[in-house]
Amino acid sequence: METSIVVIRPETEEEDIKRAGDILKRGGLVAFPTETVYGLGGNALDAEASARIYAAKGRPSDNPLIVHIAAIEDLYGITEEVSGRAELLAEAFWPGPLTMIFKKNEKVPYSTTGGLDTVAVRFPGHEIARKVIKAGGGYVAAPSANTSGRPSPTEAAHVIEDLSGKIDMIVDGGSVGIGLESTIVDMSVDEPVILRPGYISQQMIEDVIGPVKMDAALLSADSKARPKAPGMKYKHYAPKADLVIVEGDPEKVINRISRLAEEAQADGRTVGIICTEETVERYKTGIVKSAGTRSSEITIAQHLYGILREFDELEVSQIYSEAFDTPKMGEAIMNRLIKAAGHQIMKV
Ligand code: TXA
Ligand code: MG
Repeated sequence: METSIVVIRPETEEEDIKRAGDILKRGGLVAFPTETVYGLGGNALDAEASARIYAAKGRPSDNPLIVHIAAIEDLYGITEEVSGRAELLAEAFWPGPLTMIFKKNEKVPYSTTGGLDTVAVRFPGHEIARKVIKAGGGYVAAPSANTSGRPSPTEAAHVIEDLSGKIDMIVDGGSVGIGLESTIVDMSVDEPVILRPGYISQQMIEDVIGPVKMDAALLSADSKARPKAPGMKYKHYAPKADLVIVEGDPEKVINRISRLAEEAQADGRTVGIICTEETVERYKTGIVKSAGTRSSEITIAQHLYGILREFDELEVSQIYSEAFDTPKMGEAIMNRLIKAAGHQIMKV
């Protein structure tokens, strides 16, 4: 299949979005930017379109998709029950990087929900995403637009790398703003539970609806605990290299990573280091990449997946990363980094 790649420009935007919408309406697949990561869209109400999404990503079909909408009212078209608390969250954070889980109605095929009676819904804030969803009929299933098991795409080039030739169209809207997938909160149960941390933090949610729990499997150090979001159980976001996180007093971290890097290099391995602007000058061994600055956590979130991809390309075999347990997004950043590291954390 030939994949058409369009870069969004004011002069041609309307025409390109219409074309994307037409592809979605006839069951095709279109990748588009959202404020979190690029999504791979297909008509959420068409079982065959969902099946095509799984095939293009190489994704296990028991891993449900998120249905994207472009108007709050559309939530009621696919759900059985929306609680008052869910409405408060929608009012506070939609459009935005929050996904909520509801009991689904009969309109949503099981192939979209991986066989579950619940459906994940998100109303993204990104303008192009919203236009594509509207043009496509209002209900667009969109997992992250990466090959299953690779880091989520934060720019169109990543999508091209993974999915070119496998989908109908890629809408290039530049780099995304957040860089980590949306927060997921299960609102289909009596006590809401956060299934995946993201930019919208536990604190932000609690400020609106009171106490919410974190899925116990997210907090447990035991990587075998079974998370409630099926997708969280897979080894995800995995770089090709062995990745180890070093956590602790900043000076000790720098010293330990430097020593480990020297040893690995002496061993003939190609070493990558993930750090921040504050420490980048301190590392003298290996390929050193700064994700951003600790004074602006979002810069770290934005660049993390891209750096993991760059290390893949450079055929790095050993990565050492500083820990990024920053005040607001730390939970989300470390959740992804720990998964990428297969839970290898060294405390110094
Ligand atoms: O930011 C995002 O959410 C991005 C952009 C494209 O919107 N999408 C995204 O989709 O991250 P995906 O498919 O990569 O991740 C969806 C996660 C998976 O872990 C999946 O298991 C979980 O949501 N999920 C979906 N429906 C669910 C449901 N009914 N119950 C529990 N977990 C669900
Ligand atoms: Mg994903």
